[in-house]
Amino acid sequence: MNQQKIKIDFSHYFSNEITTNFRSSQSNAFNLLSKLYSSKDDFQGMAGWLNLPHDLKMFDKVNDFVTKITGEDKYEHLLVFGIGGSSLGAQALIESLQTPLWNRISKSKRKQFLTIDFIDNLDPQIIRTILTKLNLKKTLFLVISKSGGTLETIVPMLIAKEWVAELDENFYSNCVFITSKEKGLLYDLSKKHSIPLFPIPENVGGRYSVFSPVGLIPAGLAGVNLAEVREGILQADSLCQLVDIKGNIAVSLALAAFNSYLNNKNIFVLMPYSTCLKRFADWFIQLWAESLGKRGKGSTPISAIGATDQHSQIQMFNEGPNDKLICFIKLNKHKRDILIPDFSSENPSFKQYSGHKVGQILNVELDATRRALTENKRPTILITLPELNEYYISQLMYVLEVSTAIAGMLLDVNPFDQPGVELAKRYTNDALLRS
Ligand code: PA5
Repeated sequence: MNQQKIKIDFSHYFSNEITTNFRSSQSNAFNLLSKLYSSKDDFQGMAGWLNLPHDLKMFDKVNDFVTKITGEDKYEHLLVFGIGGSSLGAQALIESLQTPLWNRISKSKRKQFLTIDFIDNLDPQIIRTILTKLNLKKTLFLVISKSGGTLETIVPMLIAKEWVAELDENFYSNCVFITSKEKGLLYDLSKKHSIPLFPIPENVGGRYSVFSPVGLIPAGLAGVNLAEVREGILQADSLCQLVDIKGNIAVSLALAAFNSYLNNKNIFVLMPYSTCLKRFADWFIQLWAESLGKRGKGSTPISAIGATDQHSQIQMFNEGPNDKLICFIKLNKHKRDILIPDFSSENPSFKQYSGHKVGQILNVELDATRRALTENKRPTILITLPELNEYYISQLMYVLEVSTAIAGMLLDVNPFDQPGVELAKRYTNDALLRS
C-alpha cells in the first residue's frame, strides 16, 4: 500500500536564498489558507475544486460511465476535444501513469481500455492526421469545454462531425460532453441531441478541474485507477490543511516561491527527472501562469526535463542570470527499472555502468545537477515521490493546485480569473465576425 510520504527538501534552498520573507509571511500564508478553505462552499467563488476529493457521487458516476464504456465492445479509441484546463490535466495524468507511449501498447496489453488522442489546437495537420488514422466508427468523441463555446474546441469537433457523417454514422450518438450544467453551446446541443453530459461545477475553474470529470473520464478510459486517484487527493486535502510549515508542502512551496520572487527570482522552473512527467510539467505551467501572471506580478514558469535538459537549459540555469527558483521532482523508485548489462569485455569503460539500473542513474544525475547548482549559489527545492503511481501523482497535483492558489493570494492577485486570456479570445471572435 501507499504508506510512504511525498518529501520536500529545502536544504539547498535555505543555503542559497535570503529567506526574510519566507519567515515573516508564514502566519499570513496560513491565514490565506484558512480563507481559501472557508470559501470552498461559496457558489459565487472559485474554490469549489477543494470539494472534489469528497464528491463520492461524482466519482461513482464517472466510474459507472468508464465501466460501461470499457465493458462493451463498441469503442477502441477516445478522441478528446478541449484546450487549456479542459485538456492538460487529463494529458498529465495519462502520460504520467500510462507513459506517453500508451497508444503504441498492443490492444491485448491495453485490455479493455481505449487509445487516447487529444486535439488541443487548431493545427490542420494534426486534426487531419488524427481523423485519418483513427477508426472513426470505433471512436468515442469527448468534447470538454466549461464555457461550451471555445473556438479551438468547437472547430475540430465540427470537422470531425463532417468526417463521421461521410461514413453514414451519427456523430452525436458517439459523443459525450463535459461542460457547464446549465448554459452554453455544448449544453444546448446536448439537450437537442440527447448527448450524455457530465457537468463541471460553476465554482471550479478550468485549470483546477483535473479531479472533476474533465480529467477523470479520459484518465479512467485510459486505464488509470480512479479509486487510487481519489485516495491520493483525499490524503493531499488533509495534508494541505495542516497548520504546520514542515508538514504542509503546499504552503511551504508557495512561501518559497513568493520569497524568491521578492528576491528577484522572476522565473520558476519545474524540472522532473522523467519523460513521463513532461505533460505534468505542461499542466503545471498553465496552472501557475494563468493563475499568477496578473497586474505586473508573478514568476514565469518554465519546464525542464531531466536528464534531457542537462544537455540544454542547465547551462543557463547554472551560469546564466541568477533569476530562477528551480524545483526538482525525483522518483525514488522507477517503475519497471532496467538493469544495465555488463559489456566490459567489449570495452573496459562500459564497466562503470554495469550493475546500475537506468532509473537509478537518472537520480544520480539529478543529485549531481542539484549539487552543481548549489555550488553556483542557485536556490533549488527537491520534491521526492516514493514512486510514480496514481496515489502520489494525484496527491502532488492537488498540492500544487493549493500551492498555486496560496502563491496567488500572497501576491495579492486573484488566482482564479484569467482576464488576459479572455481578452485575446474576444479579439479573435471580433476579427472572425468582421472577416
Ligand atoms: O484554466 C482556464 O480557465 C482555461 O485554461 C480554460 O480551461 C480554457 O480557456 C478552455 O476554456 P473552456 O473550458 O471554457 O473551453
